[in-house]
Amino acid sequence: MKKKKTQVCIIGSGPAGLLLSQLLHNEGISSIVIDRQSREHIEARVRAGVLEWGSVEALDEAGIGARMHKEGIPHAGFELAFNGDRHRIDIKGHTGKDVMIYGQTELTVDLIARRLEQAGEIVFSASDVVPLDVKSPSPKVRYCANGENYEIECDHIAGCDGFHGVSKSAIPDDVLKTFERVYPFGWLGLLVDKPPVSEELIYANHERGFALSSMRSKTRSRYYIQCSLNDKVEDWSDQRFWDEFSLRMGPQIAADLQTGDSFEKSIAPLRSFVAEPMRYGNLYLAGDAAHIVPPTGAKGLNLAIADVRVLSRAFVEHYKRNNDAYLDRYSEICLKRVWKVERFSWFMSMMLHHFPNMSAFEKRMQRAEFDHIVGSETASRSVAENYVGLPLEI
Ligand code: APR
Ligand code: PHB
Repeated sequence: MKKKKTQVCIIGSGPAGLLLSQLLHNEGISSIVIDRQSREHIEARVRAGVLEWGSVEALDEAGIGARMHKEGIPHAGFELAFNGDRHRIDIKGHTGKDVMIYGQTELTVDLIARRLEQAGEIVFSASDVVPLDVKSPSPKVRYCANGENYEIECDHIAGCDGFHGVSKSAIPDDVLKTFERVYPFGWLGLLVDKPPVSEELIYANHERGFALSSMRSKTRSRYYIQCSLNDKVEDWSDQRFWDEFSLRMGPQIAADLQTGDSFEKSIAPLRSFVAEPMRYGNLYLAGDAAHIVPPTGAKGLNLAIADVRVLSRAFVEHYKRNNDAYLDRYSEICLKRVWKVERFSWFMSMMLHHFPNMSAFEKRMQRAEFDHIVGSETASRSVAENYVGLPLEI
């Protein structure tokens, strides 16, 4: 068994783990990041692409915002559409802030490049990763890489290993509480190198189901439609996708749609999930390891960034000021905001999707939610405040 030592051992090299390692490095705190996937696999993963104002600030503070500002697109608003009736949420007007369109894939590439540039240690393609003695003053993480067995001794373990990770399972069943809602549909998404149909995002409710117009740049579009969980990607030719997307967006929007050959197409399930507590001994969960939101609120990545902003602050207080107040309140601080963000993502999902066996009354309620937002400055402002990002206690 080869031994290593570090202050914080981070399981998971997604945005949560990588940003945490960067923020700690900037404060002179050591960490080792371990991931079971290869660098190529991690950098190829297609995920969402809307950054809250606070996330943009955090990435700038971490010193990795340059390409984001160069290639990202600030957005001052987005649209809701109901059977073709459109309403713009004026994010900037209501909050004075923007969101930033910048792909999670690009962000992950930037984070890995910077860590390695600064000789940060990231162990890719590790197997049998196991957190041990998480309640002891010297927890350990064991893993196997290139046929060798390793043991990292550390002060703290950050479980940033996503929903299917190993960290959560280190918390005993009688301690861990989980809350979940699985939605009875998925999102079929595609990427195409065509200019987006609209300058800003459009979230559309249609009697045939939900649709979303998003983008990665002014020449690369990302489109989604609600699909059945029984659907397979091969059931959906590009042409079938374009026909359905146009129907759901309505003739006015579809008139501007430039179609083409997609180069990525995938189906993702929708889930709301929260695990409590987010701390157990010297193990701290962050990002998808602790909570999942349906993508309808564009919150998954931003929640992961928010968690590691709180966690890195807590470690800095611990190591530099011998103050454990933030470590002790980490779970409480994060969960208070997590549940509000879960509410917004659930609210957007309930308002914008077609649910099997929906009653006529429920359909009218969705419409009434939309009409309320259209007709009320306060309701529009509330959507804008949630979308741009709720305040973070750090
Ligand atoms: N051992 C080592 N690494 C693991 C293990 C394991 N047992 N299980 C998972 N991992 C790694 C995965 O390979 C992945 O690279 O943990 C990483 C988790 O990264 P993400 O899933 O991207 O999670 P997170 O960093 O919290 O980012 C959340 O990702 O899924 C999106 O919508 C979500 O945008 C949100 C963001
Ligand atoms: C995306 O661009 O992939 C995207 C944008 C907004 C969402 C979800 C996904 O709410």
